[in-house]
Amino acid sequence: MEIGSAKLEWVASRMKVINKLVDRYQPESPLKGIRIAVSIHLEAKTGYLALSLAKLGGEVVVTGSNPLSTQDEIVSELRHRGLTVNAQRTHDVDLYKKNLQLTLDSKPNIIIDDGADLTVTIHQERKEILKDLWGVCEETTTGVKRLRALENEKKLMVPAIAVNDAQTKYLFDNRYGTGQSVWDSIMRNTNLNIAEKRVVVAGYGWCGKGVAMRAKGLGARVIVTEVDPIKALEAIMDGFDVMEMKEAAKIGDIFVTTTGDTDVIRKEHFEVMKDGAILSNAGHFDVEVSVKDLESISTSKREARPNITEYEVNGRHLYLIADGRLVNLAAADGHPVEIMDLSFSVQLLSAIKIAKDHKKMENRVYAVPQEIDYEIARTKLELLGIKIDSLTEKQRKYLKSI
Ligand code: NAI
Repeated sequence: MEIGSAKLEWVASRMKVINKLVDRYQPESPLKGIRIAVSIHLEAKTGYLALSLAKLGGEVVVTGSNPLSTQDEIVSELRHRGLTVNAQRTHDVDLYKKNLQLTLDSKPNIIIDDGADLTVTIHQERKEILKDLWGVCEETTTGVKRLRALENEKKLMVPAIAVNDAQTKYLFDNRYGTGQSVWDSIMRNTNLNIAEKRVVVAGYGWCGKGVAMRAKGLGARVIVTEVDPIKALEAIMDGFDVMEMKEAAKIGDIFVTTTGDTDVIRKEHFEVMKDGAILSNAGHFDVEVSVKDLESISTSKREARPNITEYEVNGRHLYLIADGRLVNLAAADGHPVEIMDLSFSVQLLSAIKIAKDHKKMENRVYAVPQEIDYEIARTKLELLGIKIDSLTEKQRKYLKSI
């Protein structure tokens, strides 16, 4: 069996919202002749997004968005189907960056980014490409944060749409997607029982909520760490223990970071962890579990299983999955297909919006228009065969009355 082709076929029949949207918009060819660079964790669902953009007329070039999250069989299959792909699974960050540069050589009009590496590279190293660039659609929390930082410093040179902040994205992808796929990855890589374990989830944002909820469902006793007092209170009300990381570090069996922040688990925490503790990260960058600290205090390291490195620290053994890169993408297949169908539908419609409206757009970060969110939610409900009520005229007036 050709695994790349099989994986793409598997998702093709299940990404039903995207399929509907492609059928709806294809007669207009809204992306005809437009150069689109896609930089998202390159697995089957992303491959299918790239092919869908091409069906709408886009001239698509694909790269990864993280060195370890590219699946090489998808790269080969996309090339086989005629797309230009600059990507490979690698531990080599320079090679990853070289692929970003190659992708920028195509002088894209629209960038579909995840974590903003392509967009930031243009702003810092390839300003000459800005004249061809109409706009950027950003997939994740960390990428939107970076775009807002550029905007605040008045350095954003292109309109950007915060795809992550659409309700049909973060409510489902960050919460239920991360919730399921993180546990899928931890279970398949460790083959350990989650029930009976003390799971420590760092960060109780959308991803953390999903990871904690699913850990509880699997029978774990869950501890949340936070820096935001409201999120911490929310975690308590949801039934979780909340404490500082320095306390959680002493009792946790499995750690998952979901903060988008740096050095969340560091030297002082590794030093007090139990023998056998499992460390993983679901945040965008590999900075949440400090691998630098782990390397500096460990006396030896070895590969314990595929994707798992064992570090010896003061006679104890700590196990890091996927070098501290996003565990669900670097060591598994990412979110469930139906979840990415929603997220990538937001990407698709946002790309069409940039294609149509870029001349009217300013160099700032835009929210996804509500009509896009509603179109996707309605299409999904329709596909599920679920009808919902509509407001009557009387209700409409009542809801607007004083
Ligand atoms: P969010 O902003 O909703 O939540 C992050 C939470 O972490 C906030 O509540 C914040 O107060 C907390 N936090 C920040 N620093 C902390 C620290 N030092 N200790 C404890 N808590 C801390 O963000 P969201 O949407 O949950 O995303 C989190 C990260 O996951 C981002 O990097 C995002 O890009 C990434 N992401 C990864 C996905 C995956 O497939 N693995 C999917 C979606 C997002």
